[in-house]
Amino acid sequence: LSSYPSYIDLLPSIQTCNITNLPENYFLKYYLYHALTWPQLSFVAVVRPKNGYKSSTAPGGGGIAGDVSGQYPKVVGYVLAKMEEEPTDGVQHGHITSLSVMRTHRRLGIAERLMRMSPNYQERAMAESHRAHYVSLHVRVSNTAALRLYRDTLGFEVEKVESKYYADGEDAYAMHLKLQDQW
Ligand code: ACO
Repeated sequence: LSSYPSYIDLLPSIQTCNITNLPENYFLKYYLYHALTWPQLSFVAVVRPKNGYKSSTAPGGGGIAGDVSGQYPKVVGYVLAKMEEEPTDGVQHGHITSLSVMRTHRRLGIAERLMRMSPNYQERAMAESHRAHYVSLHVRVSNTAALRLYRDTLGFEVEKVESKYYADGEDAYAMHLKLQDQW
């Protein structure tokens, strides 16, 4: 038994962060599915409540930051990642389902840290545990902040433009980061 909140306790806060920052939203069970199926691939950034903790941590049980007073830490950023279950190209790869950081906590390096977790854990976990050859993601062509993060900071490359990928008709860049070069 533990008085610390588990990742499951944090799911509503992760969902709130997503809803606040992005129009692409998911049912709670989708977050749960990620956590249960690929526990080493997703991370959250939390701020400590008054006397609590401050850390970014894996949802798979690797030390969720908690608050012994019973108040849950607030999620200010998350990356939700998975292995592509039926890759159309037949190549095992990871996929960044969603990434966002609360407006109040942006430009502090949180998104970069989430993506490079402890260090590059996410890429390493995908490459080693799941034999991923690359990581993919989609991003709106108008999303300059995320594009700079992915392309300039993290080294993703634009694979192609997917026309009208989003529900509102906006195109997406399909981006890839090769893993075999790094690991
Ligand atoms: N303008 C230009 N470049 C930016 C910006 C910005 N507003 N924000 C981040 N970057 C780039 C910069 O190169 C930055 O490095 P620098 O600060 O040294 O210049 C680098 O990214 C790292 O920035 P972080 O501080 O780690 O990014 P942050 O924690 O602020 O989060 C994010 C960036 C996730 C894009 C945030 O702005 C956000 O949540 N936006 C709304 C949600 C969103 O667009 N999510 C991505 C959707 S795509 C997907 O989910 C797969």
